[in-house]
Amino acid sequence: MIYLNNSTCMFTAKNPLNLLNTFVLQLPQIFYPIMKGAVDMRGDIKKLIQENHVCVLATVSEGEPHCSLMSYVADEDCREIYMATHKDTKKYRNLAANPSVSLLIDSRETGGKDKKAETKALTVTGTFQDGMDEQRRMAVRKALLDRHPGLNEFFADPAAEIIVVKVKALQLLDGITDAYFEKVS
Ligand SMILES: Cc1cc2nc3c(=O)[nH]c(=O)nc-3n(C[C@H](O)[C@H](O)[C@H](O)COP(=O)(O)O)c2cc1C
Repeated sequence: MIYLNNSTCMFTAKNPLNLLNTFVLQLPQIFYPIMKGAVDMRGDIKKLIQENHVCVLATVSEGEPHCSLMSYVADEDCREIYMATHKDTKKYRNLAANPSVSLLIDSRETGGKDKKAETKALTVTGTFQDGMDEQRRMAVRKALLDRHPGLNEFFADPAAEIIVVKVKALQLLDGITDAYFEKVS
């Protein structure tokens, strides 16, 4: 005997063929996103990424960490974060030597009045991805320009390189002690 939650069951067990059909039809919808790694990220995490403008980018080389304040934009599902910088910067040299990065995005700009209790802080663990085709580069450059019109000149400079960070894991602190961890495949 199979019992299903009423809210998810469209057919009663009176007709086993209908029940079987429902399962068979729904299987691809359930498993395709999981196989694709596209299970949705928590809404509050996406909101935090999308509402803010600057992050702290931590890079490392030869065991030395280095932090830089960076303007960013994310793709629609927040699995990639884009920035731009000149090749002739310490952060870019670090990325070229070691693609491991950590980003900090927080709600101090956009959050509530009680800074300590209401601030959310998101630590993103990710990997720098080198190389992209020209069409994608132009699309990312445009997204950065739309998000940061004040940095028009900086992003339009052909010497500005696009940095793509592929998100691997997230740790959200909602207030000082409420922590949540999520792996992103
Ligand atoms: C609000 C703010 C936003 C910034 N955004 C960027 C940025 O998008 N790209 C960038 O290369 N530098 C940006 N900077 C400057 C960097 O933080 C950094 O100081 C500079 O790029 C020097 O490079 P380095 O950290 O690799 O030595 C920003 C600085 C501030 C204060």
